[in-house]
Amino acid sequence: MPQAETMVQERDLRPPVEADPAFLADVIDGLSQRKKAIPARWFYDRRGSELFEEITVLPEYYPTRTESGLLAAHSLDVGRIAGPGRAVVEFGSGSSVKTPLLLTHVDASAYVPIDISGDFLREAAAGLSGRFPDLSVLPVEANFMQPVALPDEIADLPKLGFFPGSTIGNLVPRSGVNLLRDMIETMGIGAMLLIGMDRVKDTDILTRAYDDSAGVTAAFNLNLLQRINRELDGDIPLDAFKHRAIWNDTWSRIEMHLAATRDVSFMIAGRHFEMGADETIHTENSHKYTPRSARQLLAAGGWTPLREWSDDKDMFSLILAEARPEPTAP
Ligand code: AVI
Repeated sequence: MPQAETMVQERDLRPPVEADPAFLADVIDGLSQRKKAIPARWFYDRRGSELFEEITVLPEYYPTRTESGLLAAHSLDVGRIAGPGRAVVEFGSGSSVKTPLLLTHVDASAYVPIDISGDFLREAAAGLSGRFPDLSVLPVEANFMQPVALPDEIADLPKLGFFPGSTIGNLVPRSGVNLLRDMIETMGIGAMLLIGMDRVKDTDILTRAYDDSAGVTAAFNLNLLQRINRELDGDIPLDAFKHRAIWNDTWSRIEMHLAATRDVSFMIAGRHFEMGADETIHTENSHKYTPRSARQLLAAGGWTPLREWSDDKDMFSLILAEARPEPTAP
């Protein structure tokens, strides 16, 4: 039967990976909701991480290069305000690509990259130790979405948190505030935080950044379905889905969805799912901020902005903030 042949050809022939129970639970729960959604953190398997690296150099994806330009231009100022001797703590350090731009100008005593992927972490830490031989590099393998126990060696050092990439934008405000508060629990009152936050801008520029002409972002989004098929024993027909990026003005965010192009049914881990044509699976939010909304989010998370830098087109901002003791409310 031709249909069976097609199915055999489409099957991923790599050996099955042991299912992560948290991934399975998020997928089953998310697809069982009336509005289907899967948390964006599951994008980042090996292939997803490679595709994300490709996204960061796309002509349409301005955030990475704009933020790197800001770091190159203003890290010296950051260093002056933060002063010498701080431990730089990077949240979700990944391959630590932007870190040297900061460490070159901030006179840090230690660098603590935090990442959930031990492999990434060890590679990045080795690379940075080679580049900054006098710096004590102390990697921590942990989920930074909750308070993290930092190494004893830096207990008495003042901290400078580093959270680039506008990764905060991938969180809904409630989770963003929780994370900012957890960062204070991790680093303590008196810590500073250098955070990258993407700006609200022309809707065309935003949608093109998340729906590029080469189709890399589409591949990144669709890879989630491949990952489900491979790791969770799924048979989702990939040709029944297409990538969609839309601007949600109410919530000031780009949303990525996987939209069914026809009525479709599939199995995941022995469970049956059905979707109607044009029904979507919401896979990512990427919030964009005005200078005011950025400050409000930081303040809600316990951080007082000290300085802000933006590029000449106001595409992206870097904000240096401080965790001050809780003020008496007026
Ligand atoms: C990781 N994060 C900040 C990216 C963003 O811009 O929201 C993820 C991404 N998704 C599609 N393109 C990039």
